[in-house]
Amino acid sequence: MKRLLIYLVLLVPLAVLSLQILVLEDVVDPIKYIYTVTGVTATVILFFSITISLISKKINFMKYRRLIGLFGFFYAFLHLVNFVVFDAEFDLAFIIEETIDKPFVYLGMIAFFILLFMTLTSTKSLFKKYKKQHQFIYLALILITIHFIMAQKSITILQLGYIAIIFILAYCKLLQKIMKGSTLSSR
Ligand code: HEM
Repeated sequence: MKRLLIYLVLLVPLAVLSLQILVLEDVVDPIKYIYTVTGVTATVILFFSITISLISKKINFMKYRRLIGLFGFFYAFLHLVNFVVFDAEFDLAFIIEETIDKPFVYLGMIAFFILLFMTLTSTKSLFKKYKKQHQFIYLALILITIHFIMAQKSITILQLGYIAIIFILAYCKLLQKIMKGSTLSSR
């Protein structure tokens, strides 16, 4: 039941996006809008997935961490599909040019490949083998944050709010790691 609820909640952004673009047709620039919805949703979900352990004493989400992380990848994948299919229209020269010309695009690409690696190695048996490498999620999140900031032509209060939340979460996570480290070393 909880799992079904998580699926439903995480599919809301996709449902709203599809409704607005396909049914209501009230979006002025659909490509830009898809970048925003998929990019921001992926970012929020991925940050939430690393925050779960911070709130796990209050709400037991740890069991669903993999599922939530996979949804983060799913939205990042839709973001890439938007780039390749709708923006570049499969024009390989355009994709290469954009990637070379715009540093924020290749930072996004690197982050995406880290997420792809984590998704492919997220099964129980492979996770055991690649647990250490899964720490690369922090690198991916730093790259995503820089990508997010660099993609803005002008920064709005809302975006500053997102960035502030990202920094607060990173700070809490760091504190948690330091405290975990000191408890282990004092044993
Ligand atoms: C796969 C490689 C990626 C490419 C080619 C790419 C491309 C882009 C482009 C072109 C924009 C600018 C859209 C615009 O304002 O016109 C953008 C924005 C953004 N991207 Fe990516 N991106 C990639 C990976 C990622 C990943 C992995 C994430 C997060 C998980 C992400 C999150 C964002 C966010 C949050 C924005 C800002 C959206 C906005 O405020 O409008 N991107 N991306």
